[in-house]
Amino acid sequence: MVSTKTLIAAAVLSAFVATGCAVSNTMSEEELGLRKVDLYSEKEVVADPTSYSKVAAGESKVYQRAFENAPPMISHDVEGMLPITKANNSCLGCHAPEIAATVKATSVPASHMYDLRTMKQLKTVSPARYNCSQCHAPQSNNAPLVENTFQPEFRSADGAAKTNLLDVLNDGVR
Ligand code: HEC
Ligand code: HEC
Repeated sequence: MVSTKTLIAAAVLSAFVATGCAVSNTMSEEELGLRKVDLYSEKEVVADPTSYSKVAAGESKVYQRAFENAPPMISHDVEGMLPITKANNSCLGCHAPEIAATVKATSVPASHMYDLRTMKQLKTVSPARYNCSQCHAPQSNNAPLVENTFQPEFRSADGAAKTNLLDVLNDGVR
C-alpha cells in the first residue's frame, strides 16, 4: 500500500515538474510574430519604408534572376512610367524589340512575341504581355525578416542573366 504521505509528495513533485516545464517553454505574445508587437492590434506596427532604385534606366545594373526563366526584376527607377495605360506604355518605348538595341535595353524575349493559345509567332508584343508590371516589379532595398536559403540551379551558364523560356517550354512534354 502507498501511504498518503507518499502520494502527496508525488503530487507536489509532479506539480513542480509540470509548471517548471511550462514556464521555461513560454513565449510572450509579442515574441511570436515576425513584427514583435502585440498580435491583437495594428497600433504599434510600423512597416519599413520601401526604398526603390533611383538609378535612371540606362545607368542601372541588372539583377541576377531568382531562378531559371524567372521574370527579371526592374533594375531602374520607374518614376513617371507607371501605371501602364491603354494609351501609354513607356516600357515598350525602350524594350520593344525594334527599339531595345538603340537604347541599350534588354529586348522583350521571344516568349513575349508569341501567342501561347494559338501557338503562333506574332509580329508585335502579345497583348497578354502588354501589362509589364503585372509580372515585372522594381525591388525594394529592405533587409529580409527571414533569411532565404533558396539556391537556384541554372541549366545554362548564363541562366542568371538571360532567358530562353520559349525554347525550353515543352522540355519533358511528349
Ligand atoms: C528610357 C528607356 C527605358 C524605359 C522607359 C524602361 N526601361 Fe527597363 N531598362 C532599360 C535599360 C537601358 C535597361 C538595362 C539596365 C540599364 O541600363 O539601366 C532596362 C532594364 C530593365 C529590366 C531588367 C532586364 C534584365 O535583363 O534583367 C526590366 C525587367 C525592365 N527594364 C523592365 C521595364 C519595365 C516594366 C518598364 C516600364 C515600367 C521599363 N523597363 C521602362 C530602359 C528602359
Ligand atoms: C505574364 C507575365 C509577364 C508579362 C505581362 C511581361 N513579362 Fe517580361 N518576362 C516574363 C517572364 C516569365 C520572363 C522570363 C522568361 C521568358 O523568357 O519569358 C520575362 C522576361 C523579360 C525580359 C528579359 C529578356 C531576356 O532576354 O533576358 C524583359 C526585358 C522583359 N521580360 C520585359 C517585359 C516588358 C517590357 C513587358 C511589357 C511590355 C513584359 N516583359 C511583360 C513575364 C512577363
